[in-house]
Parts: sequence; C-alpha cells; structure tokens
Amino acid sequence: MRLLFVGDVVGRSGRKAVEAELPGLRERCKADFVILNGENSAGGFGITEEICQSFLDAGADVITTGNHVWDQREALVFIERQERMLRPLNYPEGTPGRGAGLFKAANGADVLVINPMGRVFMSDLECPFRGVEKELKACALGEGADAIVIDFHAEATSEKQAMAHFVDGRVSFLVGTHTHVPTADDQILTGGTAYISDAGMSGDYDSVLGMDKEEPLNRFMTRISGSRFEPAKGEATLCGVAVEIDDASGLASAISPIRIGGRLRPVEPDFWGD
Ligand SMILES: [Fe+2]
Ligand SMILES: [Fe+2]
Repeated sequence: MRLLFVGDVVGRSGRKAVEAELPGLRERCKADFVILNGENSAGGFGITEEICQSFLDAGADVITTGNHVWDQREALVFIERQERMLRPLNYPEGTPGRGAGLFKAANGADVLVINPMGRVFMSDLECPFRGVEKELKACALGEGADAIVIDFHAEATSEKQAMAHFVDGRVSFLVGTHTHVPTADDQILTGGTAYISDAGMSGDYDSVLGMDKEEPLNRFMTRISGSRFEPAKGEATLCGVAVEIDDASGLASAISPIRIGGRLRPVEPDFWGD
C-alpha cells in the first residue's frame, strides 16, 4: 500500500501548491491513501469548510489538524458533519469532532488515522500517550485496521521521538507536524514503524514559518505587535512524506520525504519508479 502525507498547508500559496501538485503527485505515486494537515490553510489560521472540501477534491482522503483547528470558528460546527476531518485527539471530553477515524483506502484497506497533540511547549491537554493507547486497543493493526497512521502535532522533537518508540511495531507510520520545518530523520524504526519528526509545511519558505517575515521580526526585535501575521505570498514548497506499507504486516518498507516547487531543494521518493 502506498501512502502520502502532506504537511501543514499555510495560506493561499500553500493551497495553490496543493491544487497544482497533489492530483499529479497522487497519480504519479499511485497512492492508495492521502492525508493532509490543513490547520493553517485559511489565511494561516484554521480551516474553513470550503477549503476542507477543496483538499478532498484535490485528492486528500483525510484532513488532520492541530492547535489552530478552531481559529476559524465555523470549524466547531462543520467538523460534526465532515467525517474526513480530524481535530486533536486529546482535547477535553465534549470537544466537537473526533481525533481518530477509520477510513477506506483506494486498495480496499482500512486505515486508522489518529491525530494526537503534544504537551511540551503547548497547551495542557489530556495525555497523548494514553489517548493513543486507547485507540490502538480499540482498533489494532492486523485486527481492526490494515494500516495505522498517526499525525503527532507537537513542538518538541523529544516528545515526537518518544511517541514513535511508544507505538513502534504497532503503527505503520508516525509523522510529526506543527514545526513547519521538514526534518531529515526519516527512517523505519526497529519495530517496523516509519517515522519522521516533522513533514515540514506546505507554504512559502521565504518567511517565518509561512508568515510574511516583517511582523515576526518586528515582534522579536521590539516586543510590540505592529500588525497581524499574514501568510507569505511567494511560491510554496509542497512538503510531505511518502510511505510504502507492507500489505501483510501493515508495517513500513520504505519512507521518503517529498518536496515540490518553491525554494526548497526538490525531493521525490525513489522507490515508486514503476
Ligand atoms: Fe501548523
Ligand atoms: Fe500547529
């Protein structure tokens, strides 16, 4: 099974890259399942129902999110009818939407997607480790699910690595999101789980985390907010990850970063040449 993940889409330039590149990428890779993190897609803050639908139309099967999920208030409402969008798993009980779901891939496989959020340098949420454990107990690899993907939305690489080892051998792929900078530590862990600390954002890298450089720099220099953060408008790099999953075991056999367009050096997976 072939799986694609697209990192945090930031603003209009990120959306343009997804619209332009994702359908072709999905086709080229013959991907069976595509997950996209959309938490920054509406002006850098949150996601609207229309944007969510545009990602599904461009070839995403599931939209994951993170700490920015509710920045557009309509998300609190539409998430209840949009089964393909997830919010962080470990928000307090009673939070709208859900943090995990079982989805059908193009090859017929049942894919469990879980979207926990870290607590180091972030909000004080329920324990993400215990939350993930509960989901894996309810729908284990090889029992309820043919493949399991976790988008761990977290700041600290230590927390991401710890979570990866926690689920190693029980999950197909654990991808980190939130830092908006791709890491070079893509690997298959000893137990067979594919892992990367951060997929990177899909946005303009001539920026501060996808935002126009001027205001972040001003705030660092003066400690006074001058204006709102606005997404940078240059050409985005679509950043993501490709993972090959063994159909029999549900564990990973290959992982590669993907980078298309914009300022970053292009990278495409070399294991789907056929
Ligand atoms: Fe983000
Ligand atoms: Fe985030």
